[in-house]
Amino acid sequence: YSSAAVQCHNNVNSTLPHSALSLYTSSLSSAPSSASLSFISSSSQLSLQPLQSFNTRGHTHFKINTKAQGLKVKCSQSEPLKVMISGAPASGKGTQCEMIVQKFGLVHISTGDLLRAEVSAGTEIGNKAKEYMNAGSLVPDEIVTAMVKGRLSQKDTKEKGWLLDGYPRSFAQAQSLEEMNIRPDVYITLDVPDEILIDRCVGRKLDPLTGKIYHVKYFPPETEEIKARLVTRSDDNEEKVKSRLQTYKQNAEAILSTYFDILHKIDGNRAKDVVFRDVDSLMSEVQKEKESWRGIPTRLNNIPHSRDIREYFYDDVLQSTQRAINDGKTRLKVEINIPELNPEMVCVQGSMGEGALAGMPLQLAGTRKILEFMDWGDYDALGNFINIGSIGAKEVEEQDDIFILVAPQNAVGNCIIFDLQAMTDAAGDRPVILINPRLKDLPASSGIMQTMGRDKRLEYAASFENCYLFRLLYYAGTQYPIMAALRMSYPYRYELYKRVDELPGKEKYVLLSTFAKRPNSDEINYAFEGKD
Ligand code: AP5
Repeated sequence: YSSAAVQCHNNVNSTLPHSALSLYTSSLSSAPSSASLSFISSSSQLSLQPLQSFNTRGHTHFKINTKAQGLKVKCSQSEPLKVMISGAPASGKGTQCEMIVQKFGLVHISTGDLLRAEVSAGTEIGNKAKEYMNAGSLVPDEIVTAMVKGRLSQKDTKEKGWLLDGYPRSFAQAQSLEEMNIRPDVYITLDVPDEILIDRCVGRKLDPLTGKIYHVKYFPPETEEIKARLVTRSDDNEEKVKSRLQTYKQNAEAILSTYFDILHKIDGNRAKDVVFRDVDSLMSEVQKEKESWRGIPTRLNNIPHSRDIREYFYDDVLQSTQRAINDGKTRLKVEINIPELNPEMVCVQGSMGEGALAGMPLQLAGTRKILEFMDWGDYDALGNFINIGSIGAKEVEEQDDIFILVAPQNAVGNCIIFDLQAMTDAAGDRPVILINPRLKDLPASSGIMQTMGRDKRLEYAASFENCYLFRLLYYAGTQYPIMAALRMSYPYRYELYKRVDELPGKEKYVLLSTFAKRPNSDEINYAFEGKD
């Protein structure tokens, strides 16, 4: 087989808990493509090991500049946080929002507060909304959506980020936001049992001067002066709370279906500071991740790619794979398709794999040798911490923690799926990661394809879940200019970025749309045309 498998185990170097492997292939236009693997670790002592220049079988390989550099091309500016908080009436949304605003400085948009302000100002909207609010039912979507849309379009939300509280409250509202491509980074739900909610609502008091939320029992006002001016909301009696609760329950499930991938449930039935500790750590993590996201590098059609670009993809793939493994995923697939990594476009052996030579193992011939030639650092990683092997059950050893299969592919008359399946069976619940697999049957030059058991094989191949996907999209029939990029980094949605020319020679990628599932070409075209 042309594929090589890499196993990592920590029997020797157990001081490297977060280690991982990452792969890149480098294609030199006049030489057969080579694949190299380098060991990287998220631990600070072990940054990317410098690869020395080396000479194998008469080929002098390029020398890599080992000086640490940041990405030279930054294209998407980091955006501020966008958060939605939801939960039943009195689950503590407003209370947590006060604390969130204090710590993160986001613009708090509470539809309940906006509506109450309209009601007390006696506006047309307020007059319309009043009867619905008093009945504990939802104010019509068009009123609330127009209000939220208006508020979100203001400058401060773009600069500081936003915290949406009480919106969306129906499937239609969630869809309105999706259509406007407004999506939070995280969707928080506060979970509180029904009987507690009623007690919280009935005892709630508001300070009309500061907007602060009190509770007669749990958070009494600090002074007599404040106490004297506190007011009770007109919808805070037991009967109305029950009806609000029922409305909430009727809609909650439908809304969750829109945000399931960024949903975080937090137990809201604890002291407010304890609840906030969880909210804070979740939001800090999301913020950190957002800040480390540097946008999509430009000049991706220039090959060979710069070290910065390689490093960018190392990091991006590594982080998403780690998130998937931390979530207990064990059958994973990385698909990364940019010119340099796409053997069909640039690789000498790749082009030989067409027509009469379709059955030939393609660009990966020799991968295993190349892995062995590589500089694996001076900490005895190879043979101890990392093993290079092949595909099959007999390769799986007890001390192995993780298996990385470098571009496993079928060839004519040589279907690797059975060996792969035997290997995953032997691996049990240990992660197996396929990098750029090609597991479809290849027809021979005669057009004959092995068909027996095909459905089962393809079904098995499909059981690997993408934890990372990156591909460039081109206008039909061309390979330049790049039209867009599609990216998916576990556990987030598929993101479609449009490539935009700026000044001559400068370009950037702008987020156009997101998708819960991998979009097909029609969906991508619709997004480009601005259709739903
Ligand atoms: P809205 O104002 O959003 O009401 P709600 O969703 O029912 O939520 P609440 O404000 O009652 O509760 P909360 O979760 O903020 O809890 P809080 O922190 O205050 O909406 C009101 C109405 O407007 C709706 O019924 C609807 O008619 C309309 N509306 C709003 N948005 C709409 C939309 N998108 N579409 C259509 N209609 C819309 O806490 C509650 C009490 O508990 C307080 O006293 C607090 O001190 C106490 N408390 C909080 N945390 C804790 C804790 N950890 N331990 C003990 N006590 C706590």
